Amino acid sequence: MKKRIKKMAALMLPVTFVFLLAVSCFAGEAKENSAAGEPSTSSGSDVLVVYFSRTGEQYTVGVIDKGNTAIIAEMIIDRTGADSFEILPEEDYYPYTYAELTDVAKKEQNEKARPAYAGEVPDLTGYSTVFIGAPVWWGDWPMICYTFFEQNAKALEGKTLIPFSTHEGSGLSGFDSKLSSVCPDTTVGKGLAIRGNDAQNNQDNVQIEVDNWLSELGFQMGN
Ligand SMILES: Cc1cc2nc3c(=O)[nH]c(=O)nc-3n(C[C@H](O)[C@H](O)[C@H](O)COP(=O)(O)O)c2cc1C
Repeated sequence: MKKRIKKMAALMLPVTFVFLLAVSCFAGEAKENSAAGEPSTSSGSDVLVVYFSRTGEQYTVGVIDKGNTAIIAEMIIDRTGADSFEILPEEDYYPYTYAELTDVAKKEQNEKARPAYAGEVPDLTGYSTVFIGAPVWWGDWPMICYTFFEQNAKALEGKTLIPFSTHEGSGLSGFDSKLSSVCPDTTVGKGLAIRGNDAQNNQDNVQIEVDNWLSELGFQMGN
């Protein structure tokens, strides 16, 4: 039975995880790249989940149809009844193969690129809490997330932002402190870091972790 969680009260202080990962490459079959869906919104909730996630060939999990971060985003949406907005590149030039993707992402990072995203961000006025999730790319948020942060920093003022990551060793990788820097005048709540491989292959345990985290944040089980 689908469980819902209602927002209750205060949020925990941010915790910063900074680890290094030697991102290695592995071989795999190439096929056409696919972004994971359309931006979606619905009304009636004061919680929004914003996320970026890739399908295709990913580290340790092979070729996936649903991105690791998307899986976590869906768990949060399911439990909180939140609205959602998926950050999708306006022009999807990200390669399908993992090795090529790491090269493109590194170049973007070196150049401090701000790739454009598609679609209209929902009116943020009515949301008090915004979960924001992404894969760790080279120890940081993917650059397209910074596009989102910078373009919406003003509209996010006064809100509680809760970061979540998927990764393969780097944890939250400073997502929380970086979010605070780029979105000042917000409250950044305790983040969650989940291994991408667990998001794909260990979902029962991950669901428990997500539920515990939501409880800690002040969400409680409702009907
Ligand atoms: C370009 C790129 C860079 C990555 N850099 C890191 C990293 O620095 N640290 C880490 O733990 N994982 C790193 N990873 C692994 C991803 O964070 C991990 O596979 C994630 O779960 C992918 O999520 P997604 O399917 O939602 O895109 C990297 C993956 C890619 C594609």
